[in-house]
Amino acid sequence: MHHSALLNVMIAAARKAARSLKRDFGEVENLQVSLKGPANFVTAADRRAEETLYAELSKARPGYGFLGEEGGVREGDDKTHRWIVDPLDGTTNFLHGIPQFAISIALEREGAIVAGLVYNPATEELFIAEKGKGAFLNDRRIRVGGRKQLREAVLACGLAHIGHGDHAVVKRETGAMLGEVAGLRRLGAAALDLAWVAAGRFDGYWERSLSPWDVAAGIILVREAGGYVSDCEGADEMLAKGSVAAGNETIRKEIIRVIKSA
Ligand code: IPD
Ligand code: CA
Ligand code: CA
Ligand code: CA
Repeated sequence: MHHSALLNVMIAAARKAARSLKRDFGEVENLQVSLKGPANFVTAADRRAEETLYAELSKARPGYGFLGEEGGVREGDDKTHRWIVDPLDGTTNFLHGIPQFAISIALEREGAIVAGLVYNPATEELFIAEKGKGAFLNDRRIRVGGRKQLREAVLACGLAHIGHGDHAVVKRETGAMLGEVAGLRRLGAAALDLAWVAAGRFDGYWERSLSPWDVAAGIILVREAGGYVSDCEGADEMLAKGSVAAGNETIRKEIIRVIKSA
């Protein structure tokens, strides 16, 4: 399939970082693990993958700004473009040998997300989207699910780890949702949760206490797959608020209704 030059840059960088993640996943028992906070793990694998992504992306697009989970902000001369990168989304899964983790790369132009990539090296599933051009999984067009009723829907959610988020809110909201849906899942990698909504595997997803790199790429995937994303209050402030609610427009609104009443 023919991709734009921009997507080719993102794909090449992701494939290179994926090689290092795959090596580390195969020898996860030998990895250096440190704690950023309670149950907030970071490994040499996260750091290595981020450095590879930074090197590859800034070689191909010199001057673009870069925001990464591990390295923070790296300013560039070009103030209109910024990469938003999570080198390893789903570190806890990774450390447990659970093959649900991903590289997430988004490109922002003048504050708007214009391209997104989410790649799971373990399954080799590559989700990509560019503004106005649709969303794809390994070169096949993807669309959000069509179910309109929560009682038929399978949703993904987040369960913040120790020392993270407001557990009282998480309990209230997930508790309220349990009485409404066909199924509720917590797979543990926000970027993939959104990508799976884009692919119609999940009918919807919501989570709070997220960071821009968890969701920036996934947001454009869902939108280009015909879906809708807002923050958990229904506004368009996902990166600033660190929350998302996603699905087709009916399911997204239903999620907001249930969590508001929780
Ligand atoms: C985490 C995952 C997880 C979400 C957490 C994130 P990380 O990212 O996306 O699903 O619940 O809030 O921090 O730390 O594995 O990149
Ligand atoms: Ca992390
Ligand atoms: Ca993450
Ligand atoms: Ca991460």
